[in-house]
Amino acid sequence: MKSSPLILVIHGPNLNLLGRREPAVYGPQTLADIDRALEKTARSLGVALETFQSNHEGRIIEKIQSALDGCKGLIINPAAYTHTSVGIRDALCMLDVPTIEVHLSNIHRREPFRHKSLVSDIVTGTISGLGADGYRLALTALAWRIGHAEGRKLKKRLDSSDPS
Ligand code: DQA
Repeated sequence: MKSSPLILVIHGPNLNLLGRREPAVYGPQTLADIDRALEKTARSLGVALETFQSNHEGRIIEKIQSALDGCKGLIINPAAYTHTSVGIRDALCMLDVPTIEVHLSNIHRREPFRHKSLVSDIVTGTISGLGADGYRLALTALAWRIGHAEGRKLKKRLDSSDPS
């Protein structure tokens, strides 16, 4: 039986304290709440999900590198590293799977130093300011893309075996 395509979700620094961390900015949900909701969405979309959080730049980079093997799509909220990390940008540049950058808050409505993302121009798309919904929307978009790509591959296979 064919296994479900794997989508990796990476949460950056300080997101482990969601719920307690500036709820007026980031919302009341904990990271566990967000991951649970994502698991549910993943099941309904027929994709497999791996979630990962780290406060360490190098660990995040290693996790992105691990997506080179077998992962079909990536969702990343690099959090504070969005605005500083060339290393995370370089790691994302190596991937050839669709990648969506997510921010809970609208970084463009906040302090000027948050307006610049070092990854926005190299990812497939960005969702910023929709709170926890942003993750679920990103997951849905990736599942659709993967589904379309698989559908196209299947059509090509069927077309090439067409005896007519
Ligand atoms: C964030 C926005 C970043 O500027 C901030 O450093 C974060 C979270 C967001 O999800 O809104 O830690 O990425």
